[in-house]
Amino acid sequence: MTEAKLEALLNEGRSFAPSAQFAQQANAQPSIYAQAAADPVAWWKSQADQLTWTTTPTKSLEWDLPFAKWFSDGTLNASYNCVDRHVAAGKGDKVAFHWIADAEGESRTITYAQLQKLVSQAANALSELGVVSGDRVAVYMPMIPEAVVTMLAIVRLGAIHSVVFAGFSAEALSSRIIDSDCQFVVTADGAFRRGAPSPLKPAVDEALASCPNVKAVLVVRRTGGEVDWKDGRDHWWHEVVDRQSEEHVCESFPAEHTMFIMYTSGTTAKPKGIFHTTGGYLTHVSTTYRLIFDVKPDLDVCWTAADIGWITGHSYIVYGPLINGATQVMYEGLPDSGGRDRWWKIVEENKVSILYTAPTTIRTLMKWGGEHPAGHDLSTLRLLGTVGEPINPEAWMWYREHIGGDRCPIVDTWWQTETGGILISPLPGITATKPGAAMTPFPGISADIVDNDGNSVGNGEGGYLVLTQPWPGMTRGIYGDPERFKETYWSRFPGKYFAGDGAKRDKDGAYWLLGRIDDVMNISGHRLSTTEVEHALVSHPSVAEAAVVGASDDTTGQAIVAFVTLRLSAEDATGDQTAIVEELRTHVAKVIGPIAKPRQIILTPELPKTRSGKIMRRLLRDVAENRSLGDVTTLTDPTVVNMIAGLMETKGDSDD
Ligand code: PRX
Repeated sequence: MTEAKLEALLNEGRSFAPSAQFAQQANAQPSIYAQAAADPVAWWKSQADQLTWTTTPTKSLEWDLPFAKWFSDGTLNASYNCVDRHVAAGKGDKVAFHWIADAEGESRTITYAQLQKLVSQAANALSELGVVSGDRVAVYMPMIPEAVVTMLAIVRLGAIHSVVFAGFSAEALSSRIIDSDCQFVVTADGAFRRGAPSPLKPAVDEALASCPNVKAVLVVRRTGGEVDWKDGRDHWWHEVVDRQSEEHVCESFPAEHTMFIMYTSGTTAKPKGIFHTTGGYLTHVSTTYRLIFDVKPDLDVCWTAADIGWITGHSYIVYGPLINGATQVMYEGLPDSGGRDRWWKIVEENKVSILYTAPTTIRTLMKWGGEHPAGHDLSTLRLLGTVGEPINPEAWMWYREHIGGDRCPIVDTWWQTETGGILISPLPGITATKPGAAMTPFPGISADIVDNDGNSVGNGEGGYLVLTQPWPGMTRGIYGDPERFKETYWSRFPGKYFAGDGAKRDKDGAYWLLGRIDDVMNISGHRLSTTEVEHALVSHPSVAEAAVVGASDDTTGQAIVAFVTLRLSAEDATGDQTAIVEELRTHVAKVIGPIAKPRQIILTPELPKTRSGKIMRRLLRDVAENRSLGDVTTLTDPTVVNMIAGLMETKGDSDD
């Protein structure tokens, strides 16, 4: 699409009418929005009633700002709700997962009855290793069925999982294990990426050197590579899990029992352990999955193309879809494992009807060209979703035309690790959509956009996104740090949850998300803080000072650009700047993980600072994005910025 055409499309306020296929939702009377708005808390309670409770809650919301409790006198088991209740309802033969390996031709089909047996065995094994209710268990695994089985087994026991994305480094893993004092780890020997094995166990071994409290490590054999082994601590999955009974009678836990912790980057160097509890979270993710994806469990094949190491995988691969009894595709590999049309082969072969992914991936697929999807039958698709970052209208239109055959509605879903589930999104069949807009708060959600003083802005204006009422899936806090929870989310606008995102409401009242307004970057849909990367850089012996900014990037949304001042000794010793830049990029990958590798590192003798000594990030962002530099009068030495801009011009981008 030409820019002019796109511009015209947006200017004309082009929206896409809801598809007739979803008329059932549209015909509900009164509308679902009206039902929820009449009494949001009662509406959420009616959604909670669709879970299987051991003790049905009589309470709904107890709100002691900023601490919420939902359904607190109810008891239930998360794993029972995801698995056993479907088997009990006679749906044991229904497929829960079509798991597709990185390598073509390798797959596994797991029914709900089989999943129940696998989860029971894993729960029995974890019990044998000593896991009890309330224990924290770290999970560091590739996208294999055992990852889902492990999560379900942990919550089945009332223990708390802390899944750490397998792309994170040993250091990142150990700091997360220590922060929540995990005493157990479940991992694999390695993972496959584009046909090549990539080890995981060595990172666990390295991490555990600084985690003396870890008592047991359960290891799935996936790649068959050589691994170091610590007798007494390490246990093979196939030796411990496979011999267990396939039956496990589960206990019930209170609705406010902590279910999992998920670390996410904030504005400081230390990631926050966001924790979620059971009843409210499960209510939120199952309701949003059912209504936003309009799942028809007997017809649909759902594919959330995300990793279980992030919140999207938790809420919309594991808990939301399984509670709804959905059949899913779970894919181990990369979008181009085995060729650039691999995704479309998967859609065709598995008759995928609902596809949910991130704008970054859509832009990558778009770059690879329309001929790849065009070579496959994608006619089973009926709904497309996106999450993780703002989607540019051009990518939205490509998704709609090339993947959705111009007939599938697109749900652009805004939410966060902290929100547990989706909060802003169209509902297919009800909400007309606009390319690039998340449209409207979900039923039962009270959102607003406010100005600097916390006053609601009118249509056509922008500001800060806030949530004005609690919702069931909202985080119950930062693990072990209630003060930081209050300070981070509830202090900027008293009484309101401050999401950290900028947003605007257009003339029709539709919500458009504009990206983070704090020092959190969004790299390919992954959250990273500028401070976290700066800390990693200054931990290198050659670095004196570093400033990091997120610069816009055509594919990854934002990319990391670092400005680094070397120590004098290092500067003298460095004849070859390319070598030190490469070393620093590798160093950051080692400290945090490959996703944090800066796209570009600019070595500069000085950083621009205000007279009070603060680094002027805004200016650096302008420099990184080649914008004009505006007002530099508060700088100690305004020439520094021009010098850095000059350095940028003389350096090319790195190639990966
Ligand atoms: O900036 C917003 C962006 O991702 C942030 C949350 O990141 P995380 O906790 O890692 O969760 C990602 C998956 C839910 C938000 O603060 N974000 C998420 N979804 C969207 C989005 N930005 C714009 N549009 C979205 N649909």
